[in-house]
Amino acid sequence: MSHTKKRILVVDDEPMIKNLLYEVLQRNDYEVEIAESGTVALKKFRASEFDLVISDIHIPDVNGMDVLKTIKEINKDVGVILITAFGTIESAVEAMKLGAYDYITKPFSMNALLMLVNKYFDYKKLVDENYYLRNELNKAHSFDNIIGKSDKMLKVFETVDAVADSKATILIQGPSGTGKELVARAIHQMSSRRNTPFIKTNCAALPESLAESELFGHEKGAFTGAIKETKGRFERADGGTILLDEISEMGLALQAKLLRVIQEKEFQKVGSSRNVYVDVRIIATTNRNLLEAVEHGLFREDLYYRLNVVPIILPPLKSRKEDVPLLAEHFILKYANENRKNVKGFDDDVMELFMQYDWPGNVRELENMVERAVVISKEQILTPKHFLFMTNEPGDNDSNVHVVPETEVSLRESEMQLILRVLDECGGNKTHAARKLGISVRTIRNKLKKFALENNGLN
Ligand SMILES: Nc1ncnc2c1ncn2[C@@H]1O[C@H](COP(=O)(O)OP(=O)(O)OP(=O)(O)O)[C@@H](O)[C@H]1O
Ligand SMILES: [Mg+2]
Repeated sequence: MSHTKKRILVVDDEPMIKNLLYEVLQRNDYEVEIAESGTVALKKFRASEFDLVISDIHIPDVNGMDVLKTIKEINKDVGVILITAFGTIESAVEAMKLGAYDYITKPFSMNALLMLVNKYFDYKKLVDENYYLRNELNKAHSFDNIIGKSDKMLKVFETVDAVADSKATILIQGPSGTGKELVARAIHQMSSRRNTPFIKTNCAALPESLAESELFGHEKGAFTGAIKETKGRFERADGGTILLDEISEMGLALQAKLLRVIQEKEFQKVGSSRNVYVDVRIIATTNRNLLEAVEHGLFREDLYYRLNVVPIILPPLKSRKEDVPLLAEHFILKYANENRKNVKGFDDDVMELFMQYDWPGNVRELENMVERAVVISKEQILTPKHFLFMTNEPGDNDSNVHVVPETEVSLRESEMQLILRVLDECGGNKTHAARKLGISVRTIRNKLKKFALENNGLN
C-alpha cells in the first residue's frame, strides 16, 4: 500500500506547546511544520499543501480566527483544529461556525490532541469516499426508512453508508426522539451482519448489581441465585451488533470492563477467570453530553474516545425544519395504512403550525401527533382542529383545554381524548401513559386500535 505522510501545519508561538506538538505528531507519523505567527502560517499555507492546520487562537499579529477564515477561503477542504484558552466558549463556537473541524481547550493532554487529529483523518477519509453519494440521496429523501433532506441528515446518511459495513465502533448522539435507535438499526441492517443478532441493551435500565452479569454472563455459583452458567448479552451478540443505549448511565466499573472488550475483544464472566472472546460490533447512543460527563469524572475519557471512533450527531428537529413536511407525510401514510383509514394529507394551516412549533420531543413527538390525528380524524384532510394542543396559548397547561371541540362528544371519544392526551404528556411512551392512567399497556393498544376501526367508515 502506498502511503504518503499527512502534512500538518502547527501555528503557535508558545515554545512548550509548539515543541511538544512537533514531537508527538512526528512520532505518530505525521509530517509537521511550525509557524510562529499568523503571517508566517498563511505564507506557508499558500506555498505548499497541508492536510490539517492546528492553530492557537492567540498568536502574534493575525489572530487564529482570521487564520481559520483565510485558510477556509483558500481551501475549504483543509481541516482546522483550534487551540482555545479555558473559558472562551464563544470563540470556540464562532470557530465551529467558521468551519473549524473542532477545537481543544488549554490545558490539554497530548493524547487527547492526538486522538482528535486521528479522528479528523478518519472522518476525512469517510467524507472523501462518499461525497458523490449526497446527490443520489438528495433525490430520494429517504435512507433505509430514515426520512430527511436537510444537510444535517444527508451528512448522517453519508456516514451511515460509509461505516455500515466496517467494524468501527459508533457513537450516536442526539436528544431524545431524534432517531438514534432507528439509525443504529439501519447500520446493522446495511452491514454484512444483517442476518446476525442485534442485541439492544438499555444501560440506564440495568441495576448496577445485575448489570455486569447481564452484559457478560456469569458462572454457575458466581453469586446467590446463579444456579447455572449464563450467557450475557455480549456473548449472545457474538458475530452481530450490540446496541448500548444511554451509555452515559453506565457505571465506572462496567466502563472499565467494556473498554477491555473493545480493546482485547475478550472478557470474563462474573465468577470466572476464563477469557471469552467475541466478535461484536458496538454501537452506543446517548442523549447526554458525554464529553461533559468525562469532564465531571463520570465517564472514562479513554472509553469515550474508543466509542467515538465514528461520531454521528442527530440534531434536534427544530434545527432542521425542512425535514418536517417530509416526515409528516411519511407518518400520515404509515398510520393511515396501519389503522386502515382514508386520511390523505394536511391543509396549509397545519403545516404552518408545524413549521412554527419547536418540537421538544423531536421526531417522536411529530410521529405521535400525526398518529393521534389520523386516529381521531373523520376527514381525509387533517386541519388544525386535529392538532388542538398546538393552538393552546403558550403556558396554558390546564388539562381541559385538550378536550374535543365537537358539541356532541361520546363517552368513548372523551375517553380516547384522555388517553391521547396522557400519551402526549408521556412523549408517546405507552408504558408511562398506562401507569399514569392506571390501565394496562395492552388496554391502551386495544382502545387505540378499536377507536381507529370505528372511525374508519366515517370518512
Ligand atoms: N428521520 C426519521 N425518519 C423516520 N422516522 C424517524 C426519524 N427519526 C426518528 N423517527 C421515528 O421517531 C421515533 C423515535 O426514534 P428513536 O427511538 O430512534 O429515537 P431515539 O433518539 O432513540 O430516542 P430516545 O433517546 O428517547 O431513546 C421512532 O418511531 C422512529 O422510527
Ligand atoms: Mg433510543
